[in-house]
Amino acid sequence: MDAIVLLKEDHKTVEALFKRFEQAGERAHVEKRRLVDTITKELVTHAYIEEEIFYPEARAKVPETSDHVLESVEEHHVVVWMLSELKDLDPADERFTAKVTVLIENVRHHVEEEEKDWFPQVRAALGRKELQELGERMAKGKADAPDDPLAIKSAKA
Ligand SMILES: [Fe+2]
Ligand SMILES: [Fe+2]
Repeated sequence: MDAIVLLKEDHKTVEALFKRFEQAGERAHVEKRRLVDTITKELVTHAYIEEEIFYPEARAKVPETSDHVLESVEEHHVVVWMLSELKDLDPADERFTAKVTVLIENVRHHVEEEEKDWFPQVRAALGRKELQELGERMAKGKADAPDDPLAIKSAKA
């Protein structure tokens, strides 16, 4: 599978989960907990393959994406820390939904920048074959992703 197609599919998957969270009732604590756990798994796996495989490849092969990649890593940093906080937060806590709402805003902004600002540069610079090969490496890499959001590289300062 093409690397950028794979990443965009992941983006769609989390967006669908975000919508379900937004539609969940005020008191749907069990459902919200379950959704946040699934969102965490998806986002941690996605951030892992981006940071381990896609981002380094983009910087190496398309140096003009460097600043975008560095900003993306800082955005991941915020997201993985929020995910780690949500792990221990009771969905009945008044801060839970507020925190998820800010998480969703951050991720939507991040995804938009990836898809609009710099993924097209990567697509233009890499050949079809290279993108396929990169996509295969990322699809396999998913199996090695950690569960703990703070085990992601960008979690560190
Ligand atoms: Fe990202
Ligand atoms: Fe992404």
